[in-house]
Amino acid sequence: MKERKLKVGMLGAGGISRVHCEGWAKLPDCELAAITDLSKDACQTRAKEFNIPNIDATPQEMFAREDLDIIDIVVPNRFHCPFTISALQAGKHVLCEKPLALSVAEVDEMIAAAEKTGKKLMCAQHMRFEPKSQSIKEYMARRPLGEIYYARAWYLRRRQLPCTPGFMYRKNAGGGCCIDVGVHVLDLALFLMDNFSPASVSGISVTKLAKQADSWSEWGQIDRENIDVEDFAAGFIRFQDGSALSLECSFMLNMKPRSYSTIDLFGTLGGLKWPDCEFVDHTSKDFIDVKMEVREDKAWGTAHHAEIREFAQAVRNDKPVPVPPRQTRAVIAILEGLYQSARTGKEVNLK
Ligand SMILES: NC(=O)c1ccc[n+]([C@@H]2O[C@H](COP(=O)([O-])OP(=O)(O)OC[C@H]3O[C@@H](n4cnc5c(N)ncnc54)[C@H](O)[C@@H]3O)[C@@H](O)[C@H]2O)c1
Repeated sequence: MKERKLKVGMLGAGGISRVHCEGWAKLPDCELAAITDLSKDACQTRAKEFNIPNIDATPQEMFAREDLDIIDIVVPNRFHCPFTISALQAGKHVLCEKPLALSVAEVDEMIAAAEKTGKKLMCAQHMRFEPKSQSIKEYMARRPLGEIYYARAWYLRRRQLPCTPGFMYRKNAGGGCCIDVGVHVLDLALFLMDNFSPASVSGISVTKLAKQADSWSEWGQIDRENIDVEDFAAGFIRFQDGSALSLECSFMLNMKPRSYSTIDLFGTLGGLKWPDCEFVDHTSKDFIDVKMEVREDKAWGTAHHAEIREFAQAVRNDKPVPVPPRQTRAVIAILEGLYQSARTGKEVNLK
């Protein structure tokens, strides 16, 4: 018997919703069935683009639809927790954009709701699904790095501050570059290290360039007067096994590249560089480095699409989601701790 399609409701019709809709539209066993957003124009645009038959007036109206299986949440960060909980309580599986929430307390409420309702919850950490990330992970399974005792993760932008209200004001975003892009490389670094047990974090978070009279961004007009999120942050994270990670992220920074992301893992048997896919072997007597083969799947599309496909499969087959919310909890604990450390000037215990 042919299985019925999984029906998806989109909560949000802004920038990233197009990429998500493309991902859902690629799946033959899924169907975009409804969309809602504060902006009716944005809804209509997406609905037309992807043949979405229903535009709902409110998220609550959409959650009440009996035919929907999945809600995909792509609205500003501060709404992630309340909407996720409402959707789960309405009996829907939830894929939610990053950051999953603004605090560990919120993540705990979301996990509790998922467990109580028996529905799936996953944060859309798409960078785990990039071919280079997947190839590195597979390579490490075949050729372990030994004890990974130090790592660094940077996501730095020279003048790329997103200038919409969802990103410039703390009340909507919960923070700036740290929670917006730091969350990507932090999640990926923990995934590659296979270490989700932080012990403490110390950090700084500053707004140095965005408020200057001559500040500018490639991505719109900065509200210099009212912007209250950081444009640079850095942290030092200790893990319970004694290893450590340094994290750096920026929306604006006086550096040469327009944008630069990297993760370095340093182990007792070798080192690894993302996204370069270079393995540095401890055992070779010469300086011989291995450039890994990357299995690209060009027909499939972006990492966002792969993430959506994997989430849909977990729902369809009732399997664990590929980004477990308890791993995301560790990511949010580090970010929350980093902001607290930046405020107090003290290291924050996360155990
Ligand atoms: N994974 C990624 O690469 C990536 C990239 C961009 C954005 N994001 C995340 O996706 C989310 C949305 O980002 P975006 O770039 O699409 O933002 P956006 O500002 O382009 O769009 C947000 C949309 O949400 C709508 N909205 C706001 N509050 C709402 C509410 N209460 N009810 C219904 N609709 C509401 C707005 O009208 C807008 O259309 C954010 O959490 C962001 O962090 C992730």
